[in-house]
This record gives sequence, C-alpha cells and structure tokens, in this order.
Amino acid sequence: MFSRAFTLISSVVIFAIYPAAGQPYNDGTKEVTLGQIKNLVTFGDSFTDILSTSDGRTSWPIYAASYANLTLYPYAHAGATCSNNLTHLSSPSVFESQLPAYYNDTSTGTIHLSPASTLYTLWIGTNDVGLKSLLIGHDSASLVDVTKCMVNWLQDLYTRGARNFLFQNMIPLEKTPLYSKNSWPNRYWHLERNTTEWNVFMRELTLSGNELTSLMLQAIVPTLHGAHIGIFDTHSLFADMSSNPAKYLNGTAALNVDDAVNKCVYELNGGPTTNCTTIQGTDRDSYLWYDELHPSEQAERIVAQVIAQVAMGEGNKWITWLS
Ligand SMILES: *[C@@H]1O[C@H](CO)[C@@H](O)[C@H](O)[C@H]1NC(C)=O
Ligand SMILES: *[C@@H]1O[C@H](CO)[C@@H](O)[C@H](O)[C@H]1NC(C)=O
Ligand SMILES: *[C@@H]1O[C@H](CO)[C@@H](O)[C@H](O)[C@H]1NC(C)=O
Ligand SMILES: *[C@@H]1O[C@H](CO)[C@@H](O)[C@H](O)[C@H]1NC(C)=O
Ligand SMILES: *[C@@H]1O[C@H](CO)[C@@H](O)[C@H](O)[C@H]1NC(C)=O
Ligand SMILES: *[C@@H]1O[C@H](CO)[C@@H](O)[C@H](O)[C@H]1NC(C)=O
Repeated sequence: MFSRAFTLISSVVIFAIYPAAGQPYNDGTKEVTLGQIKNLVTFGDSFTDILSTSDGRTSWPIYAASYANLTLYPYAHAGATCSNNLTHLSSPSVFESQLPAYYNDTSTGTIHLSPASTLYTLWIGTNDVGLKSLLIGHDSASLVDVTKCMVNWLQDLYTRGARNFLFQNMIPLEKTPLYSKNSWPNRYWHLERNTTEWNVFMRELTLSGNELTSLMLQAIVPTLHGAHIGIFDTHSLFADMSSNPAKYLNGTAALNVDDAVNKCVYELNGGPTTNCTTIQGTDRDSYLWYDELHPSEQAERIVAQVIAQVAMGEGNKWITWLS
C-alpha cells in the first residue's frame, strides 16, 4: 500500500516543477457574466445524484437550481466512477453512461441548450479512489489514469459545443467517518483494516489527484478557445467546514464534524448486531456528514450556494477561473 503511495508522490513531484503551478488565475475578468447562466447540467456520483440522494433529503443540484433559478439537467448517478474501463463498478459511469445519455438527449432533440447560458459541472472521484477501487488496489488503473479521465470529460463536452465548465475537485475524503483514523466497522466496510493506513493513503490520493487535475486543466486551457473553466476547490471548502464548523453548520445540536446524522456501528466482520442511530429534525444541520461517507444536507446547501453564485456571475473564494 505504501509503495503505491510513494509511486504517486514521485509522479506529482515531476509535475510540480511546471512553472505555472500554484499561480493565482482569478483576475476577475474571466467569470461568467451576471444572469448569463440559465441551465445547469450535472455529472458525477452519489454526491450529485438527485434521485438516490446521499444526504437523506435534498441534494445540492436541486438547491442550486432553486437558489439561482436554473433549469436542471441531472446526469449524475450514485456509485459512479469516471470510467468503467478504469475502475469497474456496476453503477452508470460518466464515460460509458452519463455522457452518452446527455449526447443522446441533445441529438434526439429532447433537450436543446445554448452553450452561452449553460453551465456543466463534474464532481467525481469518491468511488474511483475509494474502498472498492484504488485504495485497495482493485483495478490496474492508477491515480494518473483516473484523473486524466476526469479532465477528458471537459474536453469531450467542449468538442460537442459546451463552453462553461465547473470542475469540482475531490473533498478531503480522509475526514469522512469512513476514512478517518477513528473509523468504526460500518455499512461500507466492516472487515479488519488498519484505519491509520487508510487515512494516510486517502489523504495522499485526494491531495495528489486534485493537484494532477489542476495542472492538467491549466495545460489544456490554451487549446480550448472560448471556454470558461472554473475549478471549484471543494477540498478546501470541506476542510474549512471541518475546521470551522460554526461558519457553516447551523443546527440545534452541538456542532459535529466526526460522527454522522445516520450512523451505523457494525460488529467487526459483520456479526448479527448493528447499532444505528439517526439524528432528527433541526439537530441534523449541526452535522457535516450524513452517513459514514456522504456530506450532510447542510453541507450540500453550502455547495449549492457556491454554484448558485457562480451561475449568477458573482465571485466566490472557492472558485479559481482558469479561463
Ligand atoms: C426563472 O427562469 C425562468 C426561465 O428562464 C423565467 O421565465 C423566470 O422569469 C425566472 N424567474 C425569476 C424569478 O427570475
Ligand atoms: C473504454 O473501452 C472501449 C473498448 O475498448 C473503448 O472503445 C472506449 O473508448 C473506452 N473508453 C474510455 C473512456 O477510455
Ligand atoms: C435516447 O433517447 C431516446 C429518445 O429520447 C430514448 O428513447 C432512449 O432511451 C435514449 N437512449 C439512451 C441510451 O439514453
Ligand atoms: C497501522 O498502520 C500504522 C501505520 O503504518 C502503524 O503504525 C500501526 O502500527 C498499524 N496498526 C496495527 C494495529 O497494525
Ligand atoms: C441552516 O441554513 C440553511 C441555509 O443555508 C437553511 O435552509 C436551514 O433551514 C438552516 N437550518 C436550521 C436548523 O436553521
Ligand atoms: C449505540 O450507538 C450509540 C451512538 O453511537 C451509543 O451511544 C450507544 O451506547 C450504542 N449502543 C450500544 C448497545 O452499543
């Protein structure tokens, strides 16, 4: 496990000598203009799925569409990865299912969206790097393959005419109850494991993966004329929510960034007893996590507020515009 971590660190070091790394790109003139965006087209996994919602209630695209008066075209599916060619899970992936469904809808005339007034978002990676894929070495794919795939999403849509993009990077998954050092046997994993090792490796995967996508996006910007590309740094936003919960969480219970609204403690190796607890009512908004892996509804409202601001042409400190 650690030899894998070191391999990816060395590949990141090679990229890090690229001179543009870390330069601020938001010069204030690149943002989409006020009132321009009317349509929101979303791709991704359970964090973005509006039917199989991961917060137990209402997911962020619904809130974002309502906050900014947008028409929503939701293509994200719970359990998805970027490509089943790379990390094979049974859910509809971005490349094999979500993009084809969108292209089908546009070619059959089911939907017709003007490039100037449409914002495309992708929030993917949680399953790609997670406990069914890279974290346990389940696939032959590497973090490099998976991050290239994420960037290809943008290029693929660009060739089909899309122009406004928001790329949501991976959250610090190591802070979720599932990947924390103090994790417990739960609905996602109840077998023996070293929680410290998972935590350390997950931190490397999210940090390195986000740096790779950022560098790759910067590298392709000059080839994508007329495109507006923003990186939504959800990694930093969730890190801030975790460190400064009082700025974001507003429920009636004590603020909590370690447990979950809907928490289930399993017996190790899946014995007969599970101890599930669910936080009710307005207390829920005191929690950062809904379950062991997913953001709470209040965390999703915060994500939605950022996206709504972008759609309305307002600046936001979590967005860096590359073009
Ligand atoms: C919301 O958007 C629709 C469709 O673009 C438009 O007809 C309507 O006037 C908008 N409503 C508000 C309150 O801006
Ligand atoms: C997945 O594999 C198929 C068959 O080899 C190929 O046609 C397709 O382009 C691949 N998709 C991606 C996203 O690499
Ligand atoms: C393609 O669009 C048609 C017409 O809307 C629909 O009947 C069909 O199920 C779609 N196929 C896919 C793969 O989404
Ligand atoms: C878990 O992994 C950490 C880091 O490699 C190590 O220090 C610790 O001893 C391991 N714990 C157990 C119980 O094996
Ligand atoms: C917390 O704030 C959100 C808006 O961000 C609001 O919709 C929600 O009702 C608030 N929760 C409570 C318990 O007041
Ligand atoms: C069940 O979990 C709750 C909250 O995690 C804890 O307070 C309680 O003691 C647990 N009950 C049992 C029987 O383990």
